[in-house]
Amino acid sequence: MSATPRARRRASWRGGVGAALAALAVAGAGVVAACGTKDDGPPPLSGEALMNPETCRSCHEEHFRQWSGSMHAYAGEDPVFVAMNKRMQRETKGAAGSLCVGCHAPLAVRMGRTTDGLNLAELPAYMRGVTCYFCHSTDAVEGTHNNPLRLAADGALRGPFADPAKAAPHKSAYSPLHDRESPESSALCGACHDVVTPAGAHIERTFTEWQGSVYAGVGKLSCGKCHMDGREGLAAPGVAGVGVRTVHDHGFPAVDIALTPFPEAEAQRRAVQAFLDNTLIAKLCVRQLPTGVVAEVTLDNAFAGHKFPSGANQDRRAWVELVASRGGAEVFVSGRVPDGKAAASIGDPNLWLLRDKIFDVAGKETHMFWEAARFEAEQLPAATTNDPQAPGFVHSVTRTYPLPSPAPDRVTMRVRMRPLDFELLDDLVASGDLDREIAARVPTYDLAGTVKEWTAASLGFTRCAE
Ligand code: HEC
Ligand code: HEC
Ligand code: HEC
Ligand code: HEC
Ligand code: HEC
Repeated sequence: MSATPRARRRASWRGGVGAALAALAVAGAGVVAACGTKDDGPPPLSGEALMNPETCRSCHEEHFRQWSGSMHAYAGEDPVFVAMNKRMQRETKGAAGSLCVGCHAPLAVRMGRTTDGLNLAELPAYMRGVTCYFCHSTDAVEGTHNNPLRLAADGALRGPFADPAKAAPHKSAYSPLHDRESPESSALCGACHDVVTPAGAHIERTFTEWQGSVYAGVGKLSCGKCHMDGREGLAAPGVAGVGVRTVHDHGFPAVDIALTPFPEAEAQRRAVQAFLDNTLIAKLCVRQLPTGVVAEVTLDNAFAGHKFPSGANQDRRAWVELVASRGGAEVFVSGRVPDGKAAASIGDPNLWLLRDKIFDVAGKETHMFWEAARFEAEQLPAATTNDPQAPGFVHSVTRTYPLPSPAPDRVTMRVRMRPLDFELLDDLVASGDLDREIAARVPTYDLAGTVKEWTAASLGFTRCAE
């Protein structure tokens, strides 16, 4: 990617939209009456009131509640983020600038309230995280990564309704970027869900992966179709003239959870587990081959609209734990990772570990992703076709484990996952940037859809646990 369009974009929002936004904020800290709006509704919200999620709460209570527990709301509070940004600024002597905050606290950057994110804690809460206003005032996507979203300066909130109720205290506008039925809506998400480092490594690729999948093509499932569940309800309950519509979940559960006290923590954790439980399909076979007994583990990324795992894979780990026993005694174990220990560090030659490895310009492996110049990825592929006749229809991956003889009589497996692993966390603790207590709260999930048991008695060497 050339730096020129990025630099040009940055210049354009600093001078153009940035200035317009600043003017909007100066216009008033409260609800400002403006003349000349075309409908006869209430005086429109503007300035800080429009940018502050607390303002939206009174009418969009459910949206607010769900968002308040989301990783979008947490993005600027996340202690691992804060620790990494602090370390990056120190180690690069500030050269990396707004790289991280450009996505984790984008409004603060666009409003000129931060350049490096080191002062986030001192800013008003509505400046941190991916906020209502940031998503809903986007009117164009001017690129594919590192947050090239353009914010409108007209004070109108973009959404999926062409005919919003007149009682809204803000201007509204229909936008295909905010309508999960429209394929363009993935570009809104993708703009932040692809990250390219200063040295050019494309370390988060969720949008690119989606573009290469069946879901972007004939499958036609935008990010929102899977990540924003719809239900019948009221978009602004209690406001006169508002009828039933399809409203969409704003909790965005996936893998990460808040590591410090945060709203909706229990609900978010449950939603993450439920989503992960229904992501992969697994199959476990035990066979007697002429060369010996083997276990065959097949994983199918059946339900993610991109590879699995996706996103922050330089920090994230998923792995297979496989245990074989005979007469109740264990005879083979792979992937048994102790709590608090990095999966990659257990010295297991058979370990099936899904993740990215990143390397700096000198070719040395690193865990600090702003240094990444190159990556190697081990992920499960996404479906690329719905056509059973087409090559590539089967996209599952099988791995064979050698088992000792005599053959075991019981084999069990599960896939486990950690949002962030301990190579990174321990490194941040050692540099004094992260509290060990917080690192210890990172969860390890078991994916229920992958918990399988084979026994010689029930399945023998011809049938598989599916
Ligand atoms: C006084 C009540 C009220 C407040 C406060 C309020 N809204 Fe609304 N909003 C509404 C109503 C009413 C609608 C129209 C709902 C409908 O037509 O079903 C609406 C619609 C929307 C839409 C959909 C627009 C479209 O055309 O699709 C978005 C997005 C939205 N609001 C975001 C926000 C945000 C963000 C805030 C906080 C800055 C906010 N609202 C504050 C009442 C409110
Ligand atoms: C302005 C940038 C931005 C936009 C736009 C955006 N996201 Fe995010 N998203 C983030 C950031 C930053 C995080 C992670 C915050 C953290 O964990 O610290 C995140 C987290 C998430 C997560 C949780 C990931 C996990 O591992 O738990 C999901 C799911 C998600 N976003 C989906 C979406 C979808 C779908 C859209 C489009 C409707 C979208 N995002 C739009 C920046 C953005
Ligand atoms: C990551 C981006 C993002 C953030 C942050 C976000 N929204 Fe939305 N919101 C969307 C998208 C995308 C849709 C459109 C869903 C659809 O119809 O396909 C939407 C839809 C809506 C709607 C229309 C009704 C519905 O549910 O479809 C309202 C109202 C709304 N959002 C309010 C809010 C409020 C209030 C906040 C903050 C508390 C907020 N949003 C934060 C992306 C976001
Ligand atoms: C076909 C459904 C589907 C589509 C389309 C889809 N996703 Fe996902 N996504 C999933 C599933 C399933 C998971 C894994 C479950 C989990 O992480 O809890 C997931 C996980 C994620 C994660 C967490 C990363 C991980 O390793 O699990 C992020 C971030 C994310 N998706 C963002 C997006 C974005 C951005 C888009 C659009 C460019 C998108 N998704 C399109 C289903 C989908
Ligand atoms: C292009 C937007 C973007 C930029 C730039 C960005 N992030 Fe993120 N970040 C995201 C998104 C999107 C996610 C959620 C992806 C996921 O969980 O799979 C995320 C997740 C995270 C997480 C939590 C999840 C995890 O598993 O690692 C941390 C910590 C983080 N980012 C730190 C940083 C730091 C530090 C920087 C700067 C060096 C940075 N980010 C730059 C978009 C961005």
